[in-house]
Amino acid sequence: MSTTAIYQKLTNCKTCIRQTTDFIPKVAIVLGSGLGDYADTIRVAAQIPYSDIEGFPVSTVPGHDGRFIFGYVDDVPVVCMKGRVHYYEGYSISDVVLPIRLMKLLGAEILFLTNASGGVNTSFHAGDLMLITDHISCFAPNPLIGANIEELGTRFPDMTHVYDGALQQIIKDAAQEQHIFLQQGVYAQLTGPSFETPAEVRMLRTLGCDAVGMSTAVEAVAAAHMGMKICGISCVCNLAAGMTANPLTHKEVQEAADKAAPVFKSLVTESVKRFGKI
Ligand code: HPA
Repeated sequence: MSTTAIYQKLTNCKTCIRQTTDFIPKVAIVLGSGLGDYADTIRVAAQIPYSDIEGFPVSTVPGHDGRFIFGYVDDVPVVCMKGRVHYYEGYSISDVVLPIRLMKLLGAEILFLTNASGGVNTSFHAGDLMLITDHISCFAPNPLIGANIEELGTRFPDMTHVYDGALQQIIKDAAQEQHIFLQQGVYAQLTGPSFETPAEVRMLRTLGCDAVGMSTAVEAVAAAHMGMKICGISCVCNLAAGMTANPLTHKEVQEAADKAAPVFKSLVTESVKRFGKI
């Protein structure tokens, strides 16, 4: 798809949403596996199923019910993505990042990314939460390839500080206050949908990765292009392939994410409340 068509589709989606709600979010939150019911904790102002937005990519993964939820965490206006689309579902990379771009066009200045991952760092344990300090996105296609969309950002955006230092500090403070143990490290996005081989996991460790997953980094690239302030937390649901004797299953990942959900949710809530003050 040409970049003109990509931008046209994006603005069409915005027009479509604006026919339902004029809500202006400050924080955009992408709810990863396990955080799906986070929306139950927010004061809802409007909900829009992705399938009601013309041209919007709709997820095919079981357990990834798709809708935007507009509302308030405490008194902070947020838009939550309940369900995201993944590159491995067969969407173009521009469709994968369309929702992120859309939330920015709707007014969100801050992007809070969450996901489920496999732990690559040998000191991690299943169920750990990891503050994302940086990422490796270059195993997935770059969402900015093609003629630059000048309306969104510059051709060669700087990626030195993708994950905002001040937001990271706020999350660390919130975790400490709530006695939540928080790992931190580098998240690598691979395309999936197969899990990694043990050799790939060793490669990732050598490259400096602490956790691996199938989302998030390309979303952060698109958001950084648009000048959003970004932060992310990954729920390390399992140790990556070859680190334990067990084979990996989606069910195991889902169960671990569900188990970590209460703590994860309270960390997100406490952090977002604090984001409202900056
Ligand atoms: N690898 C990639 N993605 C994942 C994993 C994993 O081990 N666990 C949860 N998402």
